[in-house]
Amino acid sequence: MRKQIAAANWKMNKTLSEGKQLLNDILTSIPSLSDHQEVLFSVPFPYLIQANEIVAGKKNIHIAAQNCHHKTSGAFTGEVSVDMLTSIGVAHCIVGHSERREYFAESNAMLADKVNLCLSASITPIFCCGEPLSIREQGSQNNFVEVQLNESLFHLNAEDLKKVVIAYEPIWAIGTGKTASSEQAQEMHAHIRAVIASKYGNDLANDVSVLYGGSVKASNAKEIFSQPDVDGGLVGGASLIADEFLAVIKALK
Ligand code: PGA
Repeated sequence: MRKQIAAANWKMNKTLSEGKQLLNDILTSIPSLSDHQEVLFSVPFPYLIQANEIVAGKKNIHIAAQNCHHKTSGAFTGEVSVDMLTSIGVAHCIVGHSERREYFAESNAMLADKVNLCLSASITPIFCCGEPLSIREQGSQNNFVEVQLNESLFHLNAEDLKKVVIAYEPIWAIGTGKTASSEQAQEMHAHIRAVIASKYGNDLANDVSVLYGGSVKASNAKEIFSQPDVDGGLVGGASLIADEFLAVIKALK
């Protein structure tokens, strides 16, 4: 079975003590995870080391970074490189979240560089894609997402693409309380898999985990995750509340 993943994205929320409390509250009640299930906590940079210590040794629970820089090192004040992440034992990183694309002008080409750097540092990129409302209203979301995949991922060889986790996050559903219907999510996830299949073949397409993101919470996770091509979720707001995120974890296939 493909890996099923519940990934928390704390974004720029929680102080260190609040974050520790949240993490401990979740870990106290987390169900035991099957081999094919994984839980990720994407915490702010300053907490990565401590968060990593808290989850150390816990089966299939990992800490992720929310971003990395697209160059290896140098005069980039305020930035964090993939080698820095590796050096503190972080092996997962969100790449190309729509907030990074929008507020920090991250282009598909820059994201291709980030994906390459992550893979070269043995970091699993959680690559985000997804369309804005205007594109959805025009009905051109499939093409929009295909271009994102083409320009940031499809230069990879099959072996490397297999290491990437994709997160489909329609921008109009992020933090808005509006969720894509489970049919809309399934339709796009099937499209993403079909596009991968056309370039890399069916076996690889069936291996890649594709998460859904956008207002996933306790009340809708089960329904969304039950779709055949949805392999869990990338969760913002609801990941900041222990009971909500625990319910999302329990909704994994
Ligand atoms: P949301 O955020 O769950 O608050 O909509 C999801 C995300 O941005 O990853």
